[in-house]
Amino acid sequence: MTRPPSPEGALIEAIAAIAPGGVRTGCRLIREADETHLTPEEARSIPARQPAIRRASGAARWIAHGLLADIGMSGVAISRAPSGAPLWPAGITGSLAHDDEMAVAAVAPVGRIASLGIDVEPAQPLPDDIFAIVSTSADRIGTADRRLAGRILFCAKEAVYKAAYPLDRQILGYEDIAVDLDAGRATTKTGRKVSLGYCIVPRIVVLAFVDGDDL
Ligand SMILES: CC(C)(COP(=O)(O)OP(=O)(O)OC[C@H]1O[C@@H](n2cnc3c(N)ncnc32)[C@H](O)[C@@H]1OP(=O)(O)O)[C@@H](O)C(=O)NCCC(=O)NCCS
Repeated sequence: MTRPPSPEGALIEAIAAIAPGGVRTGCRLIREADETHLTPEEARSIPARQPAIRRASGAARWIAHGLLADIGMSGVAISRAPSGAPLWPAGITGSLAHDDEMAVAAVAPVGRIASLGIDVEPAQPLPDDIFAIVSTSADRIGTADRRLAGRILFCAKEAVYKAAYPLDRQILGYEDIAVDLDAGRATTKTGRKVSLGYCIVPRIVVLAFVDGDDL
């Protein structure tokens, strides 16, 4: 008898397909008690008290702990800095995200990739009022799925922000990031050039990265 595919199976493959070489990625459906995957140090660093938020952060770290263990870094805590950015071990860049149901993570050795950002969203259209806040005349949606283009743009700007922040330490608004989806490129108001890839099935995930050569 064939086993039904795991809820994560299709997304794991879709994210791996958009990841550049050397970037390890994963996802996890957020489960009851996932907050127990936070190490004591991580748990102390996360100020949120709401169980759903702590569960999501625990699920994302469960993925990241596994990705780091695969490259020989076991038992590493990924605490949250006061800025919100995750603190990676020396020589590693990475990023975490969660929507209401799914957590995702990406890690890579610092080198060819200088910084990573990831975001996940349900594959549903973005409400018009939010699209009006997120998009500017500098954005290029190109051939992206019309129904989902707004949500992809939203996801892309959050992923780009997460990749840029550790390098530039600048808080950016949606209006500070110009995205060209077909070119797989974004530029921030600080001049930071970020590359990106995205998938839309079974969820929208954008993986953004700063090339080591672009530093
Ligand atoms: C980073 C930010 C966009 C994340 O958005 P979110 O919808 O709350 O949450 P997501 O699930 O997408 O991502 C959460 C993860 O982002 C990461 N993150 C938070 N702040 C970060 C930062 N400054 N740099 C890099 N990563 C960051 C954390 O790992 C966090 O996971 P954790 O709480 O489990 O540690 C948001 O927290 C933020 O700082 N916003 C201020 C700036 C902004 O909103 N600008 C408009 C978008 S460009």
